[in-house]
Amino acid sequence: MKVTITTRSGKELIRGGLELHDSATVADLQESIHKRTKKYYPSRQRLTLPLQPGSKEKPVVLHYRKNLKEYSDGNSDNLTVVFKDLGPQVSYRILFFCEYLGPLLIYPIFYYFPVYQYLGYKAERVIHPVQTYALYYWCFHYFKRIMETFFVHRFSHATSPLSNVFRNCAYYWTFGAYIAYYVNHPLYTPVSDLQMKIGLGLGLLCQVSNFYCHILLSNLRSPDGNGGYQIPRGFLFNIVTCANYTTEIYQWLGFNIATQTVAGYLFLVVAASIMTNWALAKHHRLKRLFDGKEGRPKYPRRWVILPPFL
Ligand SMILES: NC(=O)c1ccc[n+]([C@@H]2O[C@H](COP(=O)([O-])OP(=O)(O)OC[C@H]3O[C@@H](n4cnc5c(N)ncnc54)[C@H](OP(=O)(O)O)[C@@H]3O)[C@@H](O)[C@H]2O)c1
Repeated sequence: MKVTITTRSGKELIRGGLELHDSATVADLQESIHKRTKKYYPSRQRLTLPLQPGSKEKPVVLHYRKNLKEYSDGNSDNLTVVFKDLGPQVSYRILFFCEYLGPLLIYPIFYYFPVYQYLGYKAERVIHPVQTYALYYWCFHYFKRIMETFFVHRFSHATSPLSNVFRNCAYYWTFGAYIAYYVNHPLYTPVSDLQMKIGLGLGLLCQVSNFYCHILLSNLRSPDGNGGYQIPRGFLFNIVTCANYTTEIYQWLGFNIATQTVAGYLFLVVAASIMTNWALAKHHRLKRLFDGKEGRPKYPRRWVILPPFL
């Protein structure tokens, strides 16, 4: 089979195209492109079918596991694909690890080291119990996330653009330092003992629930990440589509009830709005995939993220 690879401007990426055997898959084509253009390793390539001029439809993205013949529209000898360079990529595991390592390391610096003395506070720092518990809580949270990244999540996409590492790290590291600065501050005023216990109790319960939600999500796929998107079921997923986000939001609420800083609540609002946007997209995707037509199951009636509001 002859495959012609063009760029989006219509130029040929590999002059004369590539010759592949009839049973070749999209992954084989990506490997062949990589051999000819060393810079473009497979996860950097996005291959689509060409659109008719003027068409406003979304192009069909070639799936790496599929056979090229499935895209050749009955003409098994020739196929034209459009190539897009996605830019340098990193694995999702590395991306998440970098995001979470920052807050895990930055927060304890404010607790253990004389940061405030360097910043000009002369008064002796008295550490309140809630500051110590908040440190344990915080570190447990980010340690859990790193462990889940490596041992629980089964991602469908292998990689993410390298630029996301800088964007996401800026988000997590800055908020981590901002919250740590205020919670560990020498002028910090602790909440009552009861409020601290309610906050940390709620937060811990939600962290455990969040972990269980991630196990349930991971069981929807086989260990190699196969299985696409399924209807999440069981535990809180019977009520809400993105139960993992719901528990994430409530666990930050618990942390904030216990520590009570503007910085912490600001992070909660920003994180909740990001997760709400994602949850709406995920909910609509599942409703579209499971529309009850042509033998497909119908997605059950559920809240999106924060019952009884959304
Ligand atoms: N504080 C914050 O700002 C913040 C923001 C976002 C996330 N988080 C935390 O980080 C955790 C992970 O975030 P995330 O955005 O990666 O979560 P996510 O997209 O909901 O999913 C976690 C894993 O489950 C898979 N998955 C989700 N729905 C699935 C379905 N219907 N069928 C099969 N697999 C499915 C995902 O696959 P795909 O690879 O295909 O997506 C991913 O590997 C969250 O649960 C939350 O605790 C915190």
